[in-house]
Amino acid sequence: MRNKIEQLLSEIEHLAAKNKEEVEAIRVQLLGKKGSITMLFEDFKQVTAEEKRELGQKLNQLKVRAGEYINRLREQIEAQSETVTSLDTSMPGQPRPLGTRHPLSIVRNEIIDIFKHLGYTVAEGPEVEDDYHVFGALNFPPEHPARDMQDTFFVTTGDNPIILRTHTSSVQVRAMESQKPPIRIICPGRVFRNEAISARAHCIFHQIEGLYIDENVSFADMKQSILYFAREMFGADVQTRLRPSYFPFTEPSGEVDVSCNICKGKGCNVCKHTGWLEIMGCGMVDPNVLEASGIDSKKYTGFAFGMGIERIAMLKWQVKDLRHYFENDVRFLNQFKTAM
Ligand code: PHE
Repeated sequence: MRNKIEQLLSEIEHLAAKNKEEVEAIRVQLLGKKGSITMLFEDFKQVTAEEKRELGQKLNQLKVRAGEYINRLREQIEAQSETVTSLDTSMPGQPRPLGTRHPLSIVRNEIIDIFKHLGYTVAEGPEVEDDYHVFGALNFPPEHPARDMQDTFFVTTGDNPIILRTHTSSVQVRAMESQKPPIRIICPGRVFRNEAISARAHCIFHQIEGLYIDENVSFADMKQSILYFAREMFGADVQTRLRPSYFPFTEPSGEVDVSCNICKGKGCNVCKHTGWLEIMGCGMVDPNVLEASGIDSKKYTGFAFGMGIERIAMLKWQVKDLRHYFENDVRFLNQFKTAM
């Protein structure tokens, strides 16, 4: 029996297995019901009392070693199969869902692109502004009722309070202060107005405003630029019309309508059966505004216009509720995959 134990002890060191099944076969062969080690325990019952102590120890040692060895073989095989999986270059990759541009970014880029063809460059400015750049320099005298047109968020109070800009015209003021004509810029950006959130209004939205100042810039130039924009944006057969309006910083001022692209002017509920959709405000820059920023109003004239990006996007895709643009619901955003 002693010899048998010694033999098995040296044998197990040389056992090898290629897969899990072979490890299991070795286990059965040694430690299974009829396994060689199990059988030795049977033989052990017949051993004489003097030998029991020594052989018992040896036998237990053999059983423990065999168990350890089998476990080691099993671990080796598991490790091998893991390595093989991570190295299998033929496995298909993890699919990554493709992101989409936000619909407002798509429309903003489209508008910028159209005006780039007319020689406009993009100008940006701070969203947190002082009262002077948002109102003062734009011919809004203090206490002027026109300030009520735009419900302002105040950050500080005082003579020239810090506010959140209510329109991107403030960027035009900064451009007029720092550049000499000719100036031809468009100013895209986020603006803030203290309004109750509904399907048609939000306290945050986006505008693009344009400004063109040079010698001999006329109302006809403005009209033609806006017509060009409308045709590029809504299609070659779109009609435009100008209605008189009022802004403190332009004189004369107008509002631009385009023919409804849904009913083609026949009347539907999007255009409220008028056949027209309002898209922007515009006008000739008031001489007071030019002078306030140090531009000679006898030598230079200019026009400005401003539109809401949400409004253009709504008309483009007939999105009826403005809140969709801010809720980041991927089911909504995913629909613009092909529009990029
Ligand atoms: N700033 C105006 C607004 O936010 C829009 C506008 C811009 C009107 C330029 C005329 C000229 O309502």
